[in-house]
Amino acid sequence: MFIICRGYHVIAIDIDPKKVEMASNNSKIYGVDSYIDFIVGDFLQLAPSLKGNVAFLSPPWGGPSYKTTENFTLDLLKPVDGYTLFQVAQTITPNIMMFLPRNVDVCQVEQLSWLSSPPLNVEIEENYVRGFLKGVTAYFGKTAYWGVAQETSSVHICEPTTSTPDGDVPKRVADYDETDRRMLNEDNRAFDVLTVCLSREIALTLRDYTTTKGLWDALVNKFEGNLEMKKSKKGMLKGEFNMLNYVQGESIASLIQRFETLITKIESAGIG
Ligand SMILES: C[S@@+](CC[C@H](N)C(=O)[O-])C[C@H]1O[C@@H](n2cnc3c(N)ncnc32)[C@H](O)[C@@H]1O
Repeated sequence: MFIICRGYHVIAIDIDPKKVEMASNNSKIYGVDSYIDFIVGDFLQLAPSLKGNVAFLSPPWGGPSYKTTENFTLDLLKPVDGYTLFQVAQTITPNIMMFLPRNVDVCQVEQLSWLSSPPLNVEIEENYVRGFLKGVTAYFGKTAYWGVAQETSSVHICEPTTSTPDGDVPKRVADYDETDRRMLNEDNRAFDVLTVCLSREIALTLRDYTTTKGLWDALVNKFEGNLEMKKSKKGMLKGEFNMLNYVQGESIASLIQRFETLITKIESAGIG
């Protein structure tokens, strides 16, 4: 299935009428059918006559045998190799997303960005389902994280700064260097990792925190307590340690167990 978005409108193309019928049915179930035009057709033929802001490509991986290949090279994609497909998609937009096998040759994927001049931003995301790596999504152009950051300042997770005689000031996005981009990418991933670990209820209470540091501090505060609470917790644990005695009739194993539990609590509370 190949999808092209213009604003909030989507053109979804598949050569197989059954796939289009299923996708159309799903879109009705999710109440989004009015945003999508479904086309049964050959993407390679249709692409040059289409325009869009973003293209999402989910090409065939050539059947289950893709799993037996250690390094899935882009020539194994169907119905044409990845380079040709990417070039065809670029006639629509440079903002391309591609869903690829988990064992894809990542160097080759990065090379796709060089088919444009200047090279496109690229970001590669691993996609896990219940802890299993199922595939990777490659983002090019403005769909790559720091390509989005160039578009709007509201999505900055952390802010690269530059030193001036008046102190550190935020850098202009146009002045970001490779280190800044890498830091933004890493920070973005850290933010994603934190947020995916939260239950919906907790995430809702913390939705105002838009930076990784802010979110982390809020979580520490929420689950470990503020400085005052930590101080009193430490005091309580110290008291518990001083009072730890053998209880008459208690087995040695139970005493050791209580001792170890307390030591673990003391260590995680940061009492040296
Ligand atoms: C990996 S599947 C993706 C299906 C869909 N994205 C999904 O997640 O269920 C690849 C799809 O590409 C379609 N396809 C293959 N060659 C095509 C072409 N030349 N033009 C349009 N679709 C094509 C196949 O019919 C198949 O449904």
